[in-house]
Amino acid sequence: MTARHKVLTKYRSYHGATYGAVTMSGDPRRWPAEPGIPGIVRFFTPYLYRSPFSVPPERESAAALAHLENVLMYEGPHTIAAILIEPITGASSGLIVPPDGYLKGVRELCDRHGILLILDEVQTGFGRTGAWFACQHWTVIPDMIAIAKGVTSGYVPLGGVMVSEPIARYFDDHVLWAGLTYSGHPLACAAGCANLAVFEEEGLVDRAQRLGEALGNRLRRLADRHAVIGDVRGKGLYWGVELVKDRVTKEPWAPFGRTGPSPMKALLAKMLERGTYLIGQSNVLVAAPPLVVSEEEIEEGVRAIDEALAEIAR
Ligand SMILES: Cc1ncc(COP(=O)(O)O)c(C=O)c1O
Repeated sequence: MTARHKVLTKYRSYHGATYGAVTMSGDPRRWPAEPGIPGIVRFFTPYLYRSPFSVPPERESAAALAHLENVLMYEGPHTIAAILIEPITGASSGLIVPPDGYLKGVRELCDRHGILLILDEVQTGFGRTGAWFACQHWTVIPDMIAIAKGVTSGYVPLGGVMVSEPIARYFDDHVLWAGLTYSGHPLACAAGCANLAVFEEEGLVDRAQRLGEALGNRLRRLADRHAVIGDVRGKGLYWGVELVKDRVTKEPWAPFGRTGPSPMKALLAKMLERGTYLIGQSNVLVAAPPLVVSEEEIEEGVRAIDEALAEIAR
C-alpha cells in the first residue's frame, strides 16, 4: 500500500512468535530468530523510571520524540511504511506507561511523513486499561490496531487487525495476499460477539477504570512498606511493580532476560502459595486481574504480594 519496505518498532516489546512478528519484537525472544526478516529498525521509547535519554521525567516525552525523529531522518522517512508499537509496553517487557503527549507526538510524526501508525493492543485492548483501547487515553487514532486476548476474554482463541476506513477501502480492489485455516472462524467470532455483549451489559470497561484505581492505590501504598519496590505504574486493571535492590541506584532486583536463575521465580511461588497468580518478568511484577475481579479479591491479592515481599525480605 505504501510501497515502502521498513517498519520501525521499539525495544522492550513483544508482537508474537511467527518469524515476522518476533523480528518486530524488541525482547530477547527474537534473538534465536535473528537475523529475521529484513526492514525492521528499533528505537527507544519513554521510560519515566529509567530514562533511556537520561533526562528528568518532565522532559522524557520530548526527548523520546526527538530520538524517534532522528531515527526517522537517518533511516529516510520515505523508506518507512509503518511504526508499530504497544501504546503501553506489555507485561513481558516491563509494563511501561508513556508520559502524556508521547503517543500524540508519534502520531504527528507519522502524519508528517506518510507513515502508518499500527498499535499492538493485544494486551491493552478491550477494557484492560480502563478504556476500550489504551490509545483512547491519549485520544490518538491509529491506522491499524492488532487485537486478540481480551476480544473473547481469552475463552476462545481469536485475533485480528482493525483497520481504518482508507485501508479497508484499499482492499476493495486489491488482493490481500494471505489465507488462513481459521480466518473468520464462526465459533471464535460468536464468542467474541457474546463477550462484547457482556462487556456492554456489565459495564466492564468503566468497572476496570474504577477498580483499577483501587488496585493502583493499594499497590502504591505497598511501596511505603517495602523498600524493594522502586516504581508502581499502570492504568485500569493493568499494573507493573518494578523491584530494585536499592532505590537510589535503581539496581534491578532480578536480572534482565528469560534464562538463568532469578529470585523472581521464588517470589511468584510465594504469591501462588497464597492463591495469587502474577506474571513476573525480569524485575517487574505484573498485576492484571480479570475485569470481573471483586474489591475483596483485589485486597486478597495485594495482601499476598505484601506477605510474599515481607517473606523474601527476611
Ligand atoms: C503485546 C502482544 N502482542 C502480540 C502477541 C502475540 O499474540 P498472538 O499469540 O495472538 O499471536 C502477544 C502475546 O502474548 C502480546 O502480548
